[in-house]
Amino acid sequence: MLETLGETPIVRLRKLLPQPQDRIYVKLEGANPSGSIKDRAALRMVEEAERHGRLSSEHTIVESTSGNLGKALALIGSVKGYRVILVVDPKTPKSVLSYASSLGAELDMVDRPDANGSYQTARIRRVEELLRKNPQARSLNQYNNPDNPMAHALQTAPEIAKDFDELSALVAAVSTGGHLSGLSSALKEHFPSLHVRAVDAVGSATFGHPFTPYKMRGIGLSWQPGNLHHAVIDSLHSVADTEALSTCRVFAREEGLLLGESGGAAVFAALAYAASHPGRTVLAIAPDAGSNYLYESYDDGWLTEQGVPPESLCRSAEELLNCVRAPQHPPTPLLDDTRRMTRLAEGEMA
Ligand SMILES: Cc1ncc(COP(=O)(O)O)c(C=O)c1O
Repeated sequence: MLETLGETPIVRLRKLLPQPQDRIYVKLEGANPSGSIKDRAALRMVEEAERHGRLSSEHTIVESTSGNLGKALALIGSVKGYRVILVVDPKTPKSVLSYASSLGAELDMVDRPDANGSYQTARIRRVEELLRKNPQARSLNQYNNPDNPMAHALQTAPEIAKDFDELSALVAAVSTGGHLSGLSSALKEHFPSLHVRAVDAVGSATFGHPFTPYKMRGIGLSWQPGNLHHAVIDSLHSVADTEALSTCRVFAREEGLLLGESGGAAVFAALAYAASHPGRTVLAIAPDAGSNYLYESYDDGWLTEQGVPPESLCRSAEELLNCVRAPQHPPTPLLDDTRRMTRLAEGEMA
């Protein structure tokens, strides 16, 4: 099963384009064996820990996950014979929980959010508690583990480089920063003028904004992760729940493309990039597929319960393209700020 990982398909959008000459592509990471981009980082983190003697069969893997890392670890645990405990929360999609437990992973549900309404720090605290209580427990620490971005620099980026003669922009969602940081550092060497646009959720604190709760899963964080390498990111587009969910729903009907929520955010941002850079070659990464969210963001009843009734979303290609041309939070450049801050920090240290 683990050998089926990678070489995921790339599709070209045909109908939903801001201008007819646009070349917008989407890499479908949902085609990995447990259904997401996380298979790549999880396998590399596990195998590097094994190679360096930090992990072996007597250990239990304990991890905080919003879903996809948990699926990946459940699969790896089943194939390699590890006990896996996943710390999850009430936002974790039902299908993810069923997948992980079907493959033998144990679920540890955190039911109370932290003061700011996020479950992420509550999950991390629970992982720390489990690590303290069980000396055989090991965590991969995906937020700071360099093997997370390395998986993408060494494996995902070469797949992309092989598939494109030229690439103007890479657009990818951020949570730990693993795939964007790894892809960007490797692809900027291959395509020197590549523009890299990070996609965050409105409400996420990943880029230093105050945290407020949002509906999308897999994207964003309530703190700034070590695997997010600002120096290789050129711009940031913070996408609202309604923009991402509209993209998911319209693309399913118009292009036969069932995107996950963060994939919806990445494709929305890729369309917005294309709208202001006509005719360029743009690649968006779809970290997983909509099949993870069939009973949530693709379900009218669930959306209504969440306070995002379907009538508040775009219903047609035309409506979605109008939203793309006037995004709620216009993209902002990032590199200049980072360079300025680095210079400031260097000046202060001198
Ligand atoms: C659905 C989904 N989107 C986006 C991401 C963000 O990826 P990364 O952690 O590489 O930044 C993840 C990571 O778990 C994910 O599961």
